[in-house]
Amino acid sequence: MRSFSKCVIIKNRAKKSNVIFILTPKGKIYMENTAPEKRQKILSCIQPSGIPTLGNYLGALKNWKTLSDDFDSAFAVADLHAITVRQDPAKFRKQITEVFALLLAIGLDPEKSIIFIQSHVPAHSQLAWILNCYTQFGEMSRMTQFKDKSKAHADNVNVGLFAYPVLMAADILLYQADLVPVGVDQKQHLEIARDIANRFNTVYSPTFTIPDAYIGKQGAKIMSLQDPTKKMSKSDPNPKSYVSVFDTPEVITKKIKSAITDCEGSVYYGEGKDGINNLMSIYSCCTGLDFDQIAKDFEGKGYGDFKAAVAEAVVEELRPVRERYDSYMKDTGYLLEVAAKGAEKASRIANRTLNKVMKKVGFVLPK
Ligand code: TRP
Repeated sequence: MRSFSKCVIIKNRAKKSNVIFILTPKGKIYMENTAPEKRQKILSCIQPSGIPTLGNYLGALKNWKTLSDDFDSAFAVADLHAITVRQDPAKFRKQITEVFALLLAIGLDPEKSIIFIQSHVPAHSQLAWILNCYTQFGEMSRMTQFKDKSKAHADNVNVGLFAYPVLMAADILLYQADLVPVGVDQKQHLEIARDIANRFNTVYSPTFTIPDAYIGKQGAKIMSLQDPTKKMSKSDPNPKSYVSVFDTPEVITKKIKSAITDCEGSVYYGEGKDGINNLMSIYSCCTGLDFDQIAKDFEGKGYGDFKAAVAEAVVEELRPVRERYDSYMKDTGYLLEVAAKGAEKASRIANRTLNKVMKKVGFVLPK
């Protein structure tokens, strides 16, 4: 053991590291950095546009919970994004609260992750405006989601809908996120965020971390129960095509039992078996079993047995989420308190980046 006369430990909370200064009897100073590998940061957001489906849950939200254990994480309700299509004020207000409650109900811990409502952190709108001026009309015009949405809302093709990916870039870049868990439909938007960040870093000096998409391995895409070649979607006019995370056990069971399959009658993952493949994905996400194991377990059994097992697995998967959600929704005062604390933490990080950006662009910062 080394002998020393004085030891000072300086904690660096942000980096979760310690620097230890040791003064030896000979008057020499040793410095040791006990910093663990710097934790990577992740950020993701969900729009408050209706109750998410089982597909949203298994494809995204459930992974968020797992990721929050391994990364420094921030998650937000993207309410500013939601007004790119017209919202009914009373319904919108309710949905923002519901989706915020859902973030807690899936098990995210406000002590561990920063959980907030996007519009509570003005830096998102501020950075989005600045980044608009570093984004070209041409590159936004190529966004497939903009093209699709402007067809779907032909009477309201507003500038916000067009600039939506820039706001998303601001969300990500403010937190210097390394990884962004997104569905495949958001990959193009993430590419734009990377392009904007690279452009700004080149025009000025390194300012933004260049984010990577994090596409979950399993359950990245859960398909419609009625047309398993289409993604499960809450905006599907046929409610039998999707399970909502708050459907009752009876409704879940009914919907799974009426899912479209094929006429072969044996459970295995294969080409042309989109319906069964989808149910196997759902079952696998809920139970952790792989496809081979599932096929083995259901050898010689029919689709009726398999569907009953899938329904039960889904019911049990969603039960605790629903129970926690119900209890959070009884105390919206508490939810708003958690949101306020989240916004405060988020603002601290976001404003640091925004100030850097404003200085580099040449704004005169307020005293
Ligand atoms: N556009 C995303 C969606 O509709 C939501 C979103 C907004 C988002 N800002 C984000 C996702 C930042 C990841 C990171 O699903």
